[in-house]
Amino acid sequence: MKLKVKTSSPQETMSVAEKLARSLGYPAVISLIGDLGAGKTTFTKGFARGLDIKENITSPTFTIMNEYLSGRKPLYHFDMYRLGSLDEALELGFGEYFDLTTLKGASIVEWAENTKGLLPERHFEITITKLNENEREISVEPKGLV
Ligand SMILES: Nc1ncnc2c1ncn2[C@@H]1O[C@H](COP(=O)(O)OP(=O)(O)OP(=O)(O)O)[C@@H](O)[C@H]1O
Ligand SMILES: [Mg+2]
Repeated sequence: MKLKVKTSSPQETMSVAEKLARSLGYPAVISLIGDLGAGKTTFTKGFARGLDIKENITSPTFTIMNEYLSGRKPLYHFDMYRLGSLDEALELGFGEYFDLTTLKGASIVEWAENTKGLLPERHFEITITKLNENEREISVEPKGLV
């Protein structure tokens, strides 16, 4: 199953993400697929709003992970752009954030392609495709269901 929606502004993308965050069951792991500037961090800002997180969400490009604990559920925001492998992610102690038996809240990951094998089988794959300057197609696909 794949749900698709088109947005025409960053605000609309945030609104889609906010609604999704309010609809999901937790714990949840979310993979964000999309080119540079597609809108993965923008989506995460909206997702955080859906968890009633008040802090400003910034890209974890250099820190690799930012955690936000002020909302209804904890949110762990990863950017694996600078990581080269699953081993590197595990060495940094990130394994626990992708274990659905212990995770509380949500782990949302940009560039999860770089750390293949880190995500649990059961996760949501969100693909953001840039159609033009302000339009994006967002697809939501639950993975790991039988
Ligand atoms: N419909 C839209 N949805 C999301 N972002 C949009 C949209 N239209 C324009 N934008 C712009 O696209 C840019 C998306 O940047 P963002 O940092 O969210 O991308 P990213 O996928 O996280 O990139 P990176 O791979 O560098 O981390 C922002 O400047 C945002 O304002
Ligand atoms: Mg980003």
